Amino acid sequence: MNNLLIVPAITAEVELLQQLGKQTFMESFAAQNTPENMKQYLQESFNIPKLTAEMTNPDSEFYFAMLKTQPVGYMKLNFRSAQTEQFNSRAVELERIYVLQSHQGQQIGQHLFNQALTIASEYKAPFLWLGVWEHNTKAIAFYRKNGFFDFDKHSFMLGNEQQTDILMRLNLPLQRLQ
Ligand SMILES: CC(C)(COP(=O)(O)OP(=O)(O)OC[C@H]1O[C@@H](n2cnc3c(N)ncnc32)[C@H](O)[C@@H]1OP(=O)(O)O)[C@@H](O)C(=O)NCCC(=O)NCCS
Repeated sequence: MNNLLIVPAITAEVELLQQLGKQTFMESFAAQNTPENMKQYLQESFNIPKLTAEMTNPDSEFYFAMLKTQPVGYMKLNFRSAQTEQFNSRAVELERIYVLQSHQGQQIGQHLFNQALTIASEYKAPFLWLGVWEHNTKAIAFYRKNGFFDFDKHSFMLGNEQQTDILMRLNLPLQRLQ
């Protein structure tokens, strides 16, 4: 895709991130969850103060996938203490990777993921890891295709419903040699 650029998001773009975050989360999960739980999660996780705090955290990085001037996807990486689980302080967590439904299946997720892989490799992380809802078969297939394997599970609250996330990791081979 010639016109696609992966660019770091800046704090001034917090409203854009909020809009894209809410839209992609709704598109991905509204069909399988109650409206109440979705509403609660969106309010708790995509409000401007929370997103601003995440964007200004020096241990987190957000990237937009830009198709010309249109943001069509985004991802969030966590380093050090920003990781949502402390398996390894030098590991990198891919906390969010989302592409607009209208633009899925066009290698945009792959471009975002490749950028995550480059960053984690340059950072000399021993592995990349993530949590994915056990029923999110599409994303699990995408991660498996990219070499991730399951290594654990953890609980995740969507509104008042406790859900299970599968934890997956991708060891970064060059680091194993050091
Ligand atoms: C998962 C997601 C990021 C993938 O992005 P995408 O742009 O749709 O995927 P791509 O077009 O880049 O696909 C890359 C590769 O993964 C494969 N892939 C993508 N979706 C797949 C699926 N459902 N099953 C099997 N393989 C899949 C593609 O076939 C492609 O392989 P290829 O290069 O050999 O053709 C995207 O579908 C998405 O945003 N999903 C909803 C949000 C979500 O669930 N995010 C993860 C939360 S943990």
